[in-house]
Amino acid sequence: MDSLLHHIEKGGLPHHIAIIMDGNGRWAKRHNKPRVFGHQNGVKAVREVTEASAELGIKYLTLYAFSKENWRRPQAEVNTLMRLFVSTVSKELNTLNKNNIRLKAIGDLERLPKRTFEALKNAIESTSNNSQMTLILALNYSSRWEITEMTKSIADQVSSEKLGIEDINEEIINANLTTHAFPDPELMIRTSGEHRISNFLLWQLSYAELVFSDTLWPDFNREDLYSCILEYQRRERRFGMTGEQVVKS
Ligand code: FPP
Repeated sequence: MDSLLHHIEKGGLPHHIAIIMDGNGRWAKRHNKPRVFGHQNGVKAVREVTEASAELGIKYLTLYAFSKENWRRPQAEVNTLMRLFVSTVSKELNTLNKNNIRLKAIGDLERLPKRTFEALKNAIESTSNNSQMTLILALNYSSRWEITEMTKSIADQVSSEKLGIEDINEEIINANLTTHAFPDPELMIRTSGEHRISNFLLWQLSYAELVFSDTLWPDFNREDLYSCILEYQRRERRFGMTGEQVVKS
């Protein structure tokens, strides 16, 4: 089969892709297996999409792995997911280093179980000098939580007179978000046919192209990723300008 890779315009790649990995539970159900089987098979897709993105030259890839709302799931499923994060991050450490991938995380990390937090911290430290791509895991993350924390931090700087109210602008807001070191994603992909943002990067996705794939996450492979990038490349990004202005610039 002719890979969609050959149709991608290399000069027009997004610098940052963010993905809501959805559909693990439904995938497991289709295979008559418990939900955790879906998460275990989701790891294969994480590996493939990470590898394909790095090979393409994507600089930042953010994966929504666990939201603050996900704590409401059955305790056994939460425990399995936390163990899966520890084992995957530890097992993949060599591969990350071999492929020159730097690991980062966003979210309320200190409230993760100690073992998950420690495994993550260790992988982040040991990959910190890698430069081909930055893989960002959103863990115990929700955008409203992040925006609330940003607001508290700015209010604190104002009340201690480190910052004046008149100095607050988009740059200051960006600097106080957990994503301050990363550019905004130009492309957001959600799998499994759901058309929602689900409290993910609400500020940062302001101008992103949203691409929805019907594929359930464990089946999502590099060709699905290429297909989403091609859809992104077919769209015209206007940033509030007219179509004619975009063509000229
Ligand atoms: C959503 O599917 C998936 C999750 C909440 C967990 C994502 C975790 C992985 C892909 C496993 C490993 C990840 C890393 C980064 C090591 P769902 O359970 O909501 O599916 P459903 O909507 O079909 O129920």
